[in-house]
Amino acid sequence: MSLLTGSHILSSAQFSRSDLEQIFALAEQMEPIAQRQVRCNVLDGAVLANLFFEPSTRSRISFGAAFARLGGRVLDTTGVQNSSISKGESLRDTSRVIAGYVDVIVLRHPEIGAAHDFASSTSVPVINGGDGAGEHPTQALLDVYTMGKELRGRKVRSLDGSIVTVVGDLKHGRTVHSLIRLLSLYDGITIRLVSSADLRLPPDLLAQMIEQGVKVIETDSLESGLRGADVVYATRMQLERFDPSGGAAFPASNFNIDAAVVQRWCVPDVVIMHPLPRDSRASANELSMDLDGHPSLAIFRQAHNGVPIRMALFAMILGVAERVQETLEPVGWYVPPSLMR
Ligand code: NCD
Repeated sequence: MSLLTGSHILSSAQFSRSDLEQIFALAEQMEPIAQRQVRCNVLDGAVLANLFFEPSTRSRISFGAAFARLGGRVLDTTGVQNSSISKGESLRDTSRVIAGYVDVIVLRHPEIGAAHDFASSTSVPVINGGDGAGEHPTQALLDVYTMGKELRGRKVRSLDGSIVTVVGDLKHGRTVHSLIRLLSLYDGITIRLVSSADLRLPPDLLAQMIEQGVKVIETDSLESGLRGADVVYATRMQLERFDPSGGAAFPASNFNIDAAVVQRWCVPDVVIMHPLPRDSRASANELSMDLDGHPSLAIFRQAHNGVPIRMALFAMILGVAERVQETLEPVGWYVPPSLMR
């Protein structure tokens, strides 16, 4: 039995610093499996339901890949139009029914609180894969895991005492809401929040951070946000969360982060992250593609870290974490040498 056996993962508020350390230690053990150096079938016979009622590419595939890399089977459904929710079925009914079919459920849904609701009527563990503008706790775990790994080789060696700058749509960005909660577990951290006035972090979350004694600085100046920061976490404008019925236009981003901006304002070994997808349209004005060859750009390493983190979570939730090492076997299929990092 491990700390998460049988548990739901609904909010990053449920984790302590020592929980993070245990999850990250197991994720490191999962890396050779994620990179196909060895294989593992500790979840042979187990079944995951990946229920995605909102668009997703990397979250859905990386949850699925993580479960499959441990030997489990994955059943997917995508889009409300393809599910019985389109026939008026309540989330609670869906939840009770699916619990009879599978061992664990990942749910992505457009409404805040949907994962809590779903979890309240099921007998199997539920993972919140994103509930509207609410939370995305597993993304935050992989983000903090990535920050730790990226900082290890640099001047500021850990998140303790570091400066982390979060830029963009802080109001609607669920990855930001989950990330801020985890960052607040680190000692002496400074969190800088860069956004326009109308896209600030929700006031209740900000108040919670301040009450916990976290040093939080809000600004609308990209320059003052970036100068001296150890980690920069850029986010996309969450256009799908904006209701245009009031007639107002969605606020445009003024936070274009490109190679020139990084050169001018960032420390040389800054770590640049983004939960992805990047909005690559010219009008989007966010993290620029001209940084793609930049050594600071950690976004693809970050996305790949989603697999070992989610493998660790599944192994803990299903109570097999201790058996992973003893079930390792050689890989029998072709693996591109570039993956054997
Ligand atoms: C994010 C999400 O869905 O919240 N994507 C992801 O899961 N990596 C971020 C976003 O859509 O902007």
